[in-house]
Amino acid sequence: MNCRVLYFTRSGNSKRIAEKIAGQAGCEISQITDDKNWKGFFGFMRGGYYASRYKMTNPLVTPKADFSEYDRVLIVGPVWAGNAAPAVYSLLEREKANLQKVCLVLSSGGGDTDAVFRRLETKTWVIPFKFGIPGNKADEDAVAAEAAGVLR
Ligand SMILES: Cc1cc2nc3c(=O)[nH]c(=O)nc-3n(C[C@H](O)[C@H](O)[C@H](O)COP(=O)(O)O)c2cc1C
Repeated sequence: MNCRVLYFTRSGNSKRIAEKIAGQAGCEISQITDDKNWKGFFGFMRGGYYASRYKMTNPLVTPKADFSEYDRVLIVGPVWAGNAAPAVYSLLEREKANLQKVCLVLSSGGGDTDAVFRRLETKTWVIPFKFGIPGNKADEDAVAAEAAGVLR
């Protein structure tokens, strides 16, 4: 299967998870950034504000990845304020014609990731493949291996 792994991260967890999955699935990896500064205390507060209101940002994927070239695109990102991080749902919105090939992996600080997937679905971002890694409550390696399975 022709696949690609993308990740957005603020503090490194999603990058680590994405690297595990891409390594196991043998596919290339790209970083998602956006046009906002999420660093520091004010970045944290801004992040919660944006995510809780579904405010959109302008995601940038580096190296560039054209969803139409892949059978499956796996996106790893963090939970912010009970939502996906803005760069993640903004990318889903931009790629809504390709959502049927998306696998979304959410990393949280312990919050319920299933509730976040349900919220995304109410906003029409219906994702066929989803996995949650709620902080240290889950076995990250086991979930990463399971997620890599949908890329094979
Ligand atoms: C702005 C902000 C809001 C967050 N909100 C939540 C939350 O609602 N629930 C939760 O479980 N974790 C929350 N977290 C924690 C992150 O989801 C968690 O640390 C995640 O693993 C970070 O991923 P990263 O290292 O890839 O940025 C929040 C973190 C940030 C920066």
